[in-house]
Amino acid sequence: MDNGFSPRRMDLPKALDMSHHLSTLSTSRRPSPLKSLIRYMGDSSIRSLAGGLPNSKFFPFETLSSLTLDPAIYAPSGVPVPKPKSWIATLFDKGLQFIETPKYASNPRELQLSTALQYGGGGGSAELIAFLKEWTLMVIPPSYSDFDIILNCGSTDGFHKIVELLCEKGDGILCEAYTYPSALETGWPMGVRPVPVAMDDFGMIPEALEELLAGWDDVKEGRRRPRVMYTITIGQNPTGTVLPDDRRRAIYKLASKYDIIIVEDDPYFALNFGTYGVDAPGSEEENDPKASEQKRNEVFINALGRSYLKEDHEGRVIRIDTFSKTIAPGCRLGWTTSNALFTERLLRASETSTQQPSGPTQVLVINLIVKTWGMGGWLRWLRGLRGEYGRRRDWMISSLIKGLDVEVRPSQLAYNVFSSTSAPAPRLIAYAKPTASSLADEQWNEKVSVYNSSSKGKGKKIVSFLPPTAGMFVWIDVHLDAHPSLNGRSDVASESYKEDANEVMHRLFVALAEAKVLVAPGWMFVGDGLMAGAPKEEDMASTSSSSGLQSDASVGHFRLAFATLDEKPMKETIAAFCVVVKEFFA
Ligand SMILES: Cc1ncc(COP(=O)(O)O)c(C=O)c1O
Repeated sequence: MDNGFSPRRMDLPKALDMSHHLSTLSTSRRPSPLKSLIRYMGDSSIRSLAGGLPNSKFFPFETLSSLTLDPAIYAPSGVPVPKPKSWIATLFDKGLQFIETPKYASNPRELQLSTALQYGGGGGSAELIAFLKEWTLMVIPPSYSDFDIILNCGSTDGFHKIVELLCEKGDGILCEAYTYPSALETGWPMGVRPVPVAMDDFGMIPEALEELLAGWDDVKEGRRRPRVMYTITIGQNPTGTVLPDDRRRAIYKLASKYDIIIVEDDPYFALNFGTYGVDAPGSEEENDPKASEQKRNEVFINALGRSYLKEDHEGRVIRIDTFSKTIAPGCRLGWTTSNALFTERLLRASETSTQQPSGPTQVLVINLIVKTWGMGGWLRWLRGLRGEYGRRRDWMISSLIKGLDVEVRPSQLAYNVFSSTSAPAPRLIAYAKPTASSLADEQWNEKVSVYNSSSKGKGKKIVSFLPPTAGMFVWIDVHLDAHPSLNGRSDVASESYKEDANEVMHRLFVALAEAKVLVAPGWMFVGDGLMAGAPKEEDMASTSSSSGLQSDASVGHFRLAFATLDEKPMKETIAAFCVVVKEFFA
């Protein structure tokens, strides 16, 4: 395997000098004087009088142990799931493994609590970083040679430090038109404002980005042209979109042309299931008893291997990964991959804030994935997770199809999300009454307006969605003009229409909540951070203007997460969702 030092990688270019991107704050950071002593402390012959390190005998933990799952416990995508057994019976079938880390290992270089619970370098465990470098080189190798990795306390922490690394007060950050709101909130108090770029069913649109950047006028916009992009490319939160390779290449080229740093937040990289109703890539190998585990892992890796890092030959991509969705969010552990200069500056930021990721978390994760499972076990675990979340995606979609009387056209299943181009993806559409069966395939395309309004909105589409191919979310478009109180109105562009449309969405949200179904309202995710459409009591005084992004005020959105519930409650909940929606539009 390529270890990063092979001649092939050394032949790659080095990262360009990106120091002009550093913020004043980041440039001013100095190494923590005390942290600089830590490198000497790894030498067991040194008797240190230097640091305020507690004596490890007084750490009240002699061991840290856990019963852990077998990495093969969950069935990968496409593999028939055995008849449901009790959770505990499944555990005993597969076997639990006992892992333990002692306070003092016989070799002090081994994983031991006396070191892991002590103050350490801000970058985190060298052993885990080595494992993650091996992973990166295997799955998404950057196209430059001198990349580096630093651990963080999860993506939220990673992104916070990146905003401080790159942004000045008043800067703009490019992002998708709908995005993960906590990311926007990170920059908000620092005066950093989101600059949303139009997106469609395939994520950010390169042409829209180019238009925005080429036409940027500092004076008119009140800020310099953005030099940072925040993007979620796989199973985008909230829209579930997956950016195709042709767009990734085009956007990287634009980033190069306009000197933009791409911050790729990719928590859902492994939950990449493929088209709904079609066997996930790798299903054939998973079901072939003659296929080796290595072959299955290879096919899985090929389906995963999509990242701006792979395009990056200049060192302008910062990638944020997290164990939140693959192990547990409470671990608060993730990692940032970037050029060495940025990594060093991020280390300085950690030294004076989080200091280092939590020792017990690092011990548990290292003992599990590095020492016990190894790379093969880690890949098998991820294959099982993809299988589990893929099945949840399927339960949610099939329940929506059933509950909303949606007809699935063959064209819906024909597109290949793993192709490198943005071939059109047909949406699934629910009608107030299933009168649409007579429509030709092309008329099912959302953009074709073929539905005659009737006084009660009967026969109009009420809901449409694209079954997601990755991630944890279904993004539902709610077609409000089918609602009796908006039906037939011609003032769609007016403020009063928007107010009424927001009010209708709010009523639908409340009706769902009263039926004990909680969904995430679309206004939370609008990429300008202005939260237009929020219910009045939560409106922010200074942000009464419209988002400008919801070009069609007659379409509202809900985000439905399929990650949390098991099959029975999921099916019941979606059935209840559908009843409320249908009644609301009756
Ligand atoms: C896009 C995105 N980024 C970051 C996070 C948070 O990650 P972490 O728990 O590592 O801070 C989430 C969680 O939902 C997310 O969807």
